[in-house]
Amino acid sequence: MTDHILVERQGAIQIIRMNRPDKKNALTRAMYATMSKALAEGDADPSVRVHVFLGVPGAFSAGNDLADFLVIATGGDGGTEVWDFLMALAKVEKPMISGVDGIAVGIGTTLNLHCDLTFATPRTLFRTPFVDLGLVPEAGSSLLAPLILGRQGAFALLGLGEGFSAERAKAAGLIYEVVEEDALEATVLAAAGAIAAKPPEALKIARDLMRAPRDELVARIKIESGHFFERLKSDEARAALTAFMTRKKG
Ligand code: COA
Repeated sequence: MTDHILVERQGAIQIIRMNRPDKKNALTRAMYATMSKALAEGDADPSVRVHVFLGVPGAFSAGNDLADFLVIATGGDGGTEVWDFLMALAKVEKPMISGVDGIAVGIGTTLNLHCDLTFATPRTLFRTPFVDLGLVPEAGSSLLAPLILGRQGAFALLGLGEGFSAERAKAAGLIYEVVEEDALEATVLAAAGAIAAKPPEALKIARDLMRAPRDELVARIKIESGHFFERLKSDEARAALTAFMTRKKG
């Protein structure tokens, strides 16, 4: 477990906060494991009604730690933590909402496709540079993004790696609302409070009815992960990852 994820309760709200500011909340294996555990424990605890994902000021998440990807790209063991987290997202039983401020790259974007409500600040930029890294979309995004954004919006996000500002993300249906930085967390917690006050059984059925079928989502994540893992070992990915890890900052 790691203190780069802070798990906290506010009444019936479970807050999962990514807290690795010096690396813009790039996610390590330990961070994924802690988030999976929190989702499982929150789901199992009847006093928890809703999960909330937050980051730090200016960074929701810069995506998977690229040093961890480079380990796999160079023949090392990647562990099961990422897979376990993707399964946790696909199977979670209770509503998830997110408050996004600033950097939202890779899984920092695709995590929100699993959320029932996402609030983001005006300075937020959603971006998934999978193809530029020699990789492919993950976390079920190849299934969820076309459903949410339409085929062409999904291609712009996942294929071209175009950045989506908060305004564009709202217009595209990727997020629910744009909220100023100083109001973000209060707004998210108020929405979480409203969710927590609903009759949980009815809300669960309603939520399940609105979501992509779990079996289909799990099957898609499996297919994506097969490609993703192979791509990590490709020359394209190795070159892109090495370039990032060895870049000189000016
Ligand atoms: N993996 C590992 N380290 C990362 C990281 C990642 N995904 N994203 C950022 N970091 C690290 C940087 O290497 C830097 O570390 P250092 O201070 O030891 O050099 C630190 O976090 C701060 O990042 P920096 O690049 O200086 O911040 P920035 O505000 O100029 O840029 C990003 C932020 C997110 C735009 C840029 O860091 C980036 O492009 N990161 C990679 C994102 C990515 O491709 N994620 C994977 C998607 S699948």
